[in-house]
Amino acid sequence: MKVLVVGGSGMLGIDVCAELVSRGHEVTAPSSAELDITDPLSVATILENRREFDWCINCAAYTAVDKAETEIREATELNAMGPGYLATACNMGGVKLIHVSTDFVFDGEATVPYTEDSRPQPIGVYGNTKRDGELAVMSANSNALIVRTSWLFGPNGRNFPKTMIGAWLAEKSLRVVSDQTGCPTYTLDLARVLVDLIEVNGYPGIYHACGPTATTWYQFAVEAITAYRDFHGIDRPVEITPVPTEEYPTPAKRPKYSAMSTAKLDTLGIQPMRPLSEVLGDFVGRIE
Ligand SMILES: NC(=O)c1ccc[n+]([C@@H]2O[C@H](COP(=O)([O-])OP(=O)(O)OC[C@H]3O[C@@H](n4cnc5c(N)ncnc54)[C@H](OP(=O)(O)O)[C@@H]3O)[C@@H](O)[C@H]2O)c1
Repeated sequence: MKVLVVGGSGMLGIDVCAELVSRGHEVTAPSSAELDITDPLSVATILENRREFDWCINCAAYTAVDKAETEIREATELNAMGPGYLATACNMGGVKLIHVSTDFVFDGEATVPYTEDSRPQPIGVYGNTKRDGELAVMSANSNALIVRTSWLFGPNGRNFPKTMIGAWLAEKSLRVVSDQTGCPTYTLDLARVLVDLIEVNGYPGIYHACGPTATTWYQFAVEAITAYRDFHGIDRPVEITPVPTEEYPTPAKRPKYSAMSTAKLDTLGIQPMRPLSEVLGDFVGRIE
């Protein structure tokens, strides 16, 4: 199939492009200068009336959660308005769309995993703009698929386990929040799932796609550093101080609990992602 990947230079986008190519699909991944999703003309020029693509996967977003609290206009343009333009152009051009969204659309007050039917109620600007993006996509294009994921990490770009491993290697003292729970998601596994969704021609609607292991940031840091240490045979203890959220204030509030159920995805016959311990073994072998 011919697939347009938007945000193909990002942490997830790079792995999505690689997965598509490895499975024999034809990929077009314009840079953000070539296709700026905040510019409706730029979006229309690439997508409308060209009948060139079967699918579009939107991995582009404003992902700086804390900065979004003050850069509301930029976050809104990229996370809410841009996806709306894309959804409209895909609709007009007959291109099926997968739009990637986030667990941050939830308030974190749940005690069991969120399903696609759970009520979104974001608690920060990033989550609000991503929820507005979901609504814009759904109202412009009833054939679109929205895939919510969480706590992304992978070989490319900056992410939490890389930062933790870097800080441990630099022998910094580490204090990590231990009362927020979510599902870390390995970008290589999510890329596989997104391409599976294309290949099974998934029904329109919302899907949750995240790793199967619910954990805390603290536990995630311990496991990531331990996996790195063991992989490289480094003889040093992993010492991290668990702290409550109150002791690690950030500009943006984050959901206390954002595990998501992937049961709906399972009904399409798509294999679940690998457990965290397994993907961390792969991850630490791929980073510097
Ligand atoms: N990171 C996480 O922990 C996390 C968690 C849950 C959900 N998600 C969602 O997963 C998706 C992928 O996230 P990510 O972390 O891989 O993102 P990322 O690494 O921050 O990459 C963002 C991408 O968006 C592109 N972009 C920026 N402005 C653009 C514009 N105006 N027009 C077109 N493209 C533009 C960037 O291109 P340039 O490099 O050229 O600027 C880059 O390729 C997003 O929808 C995000 O909301 C992420």
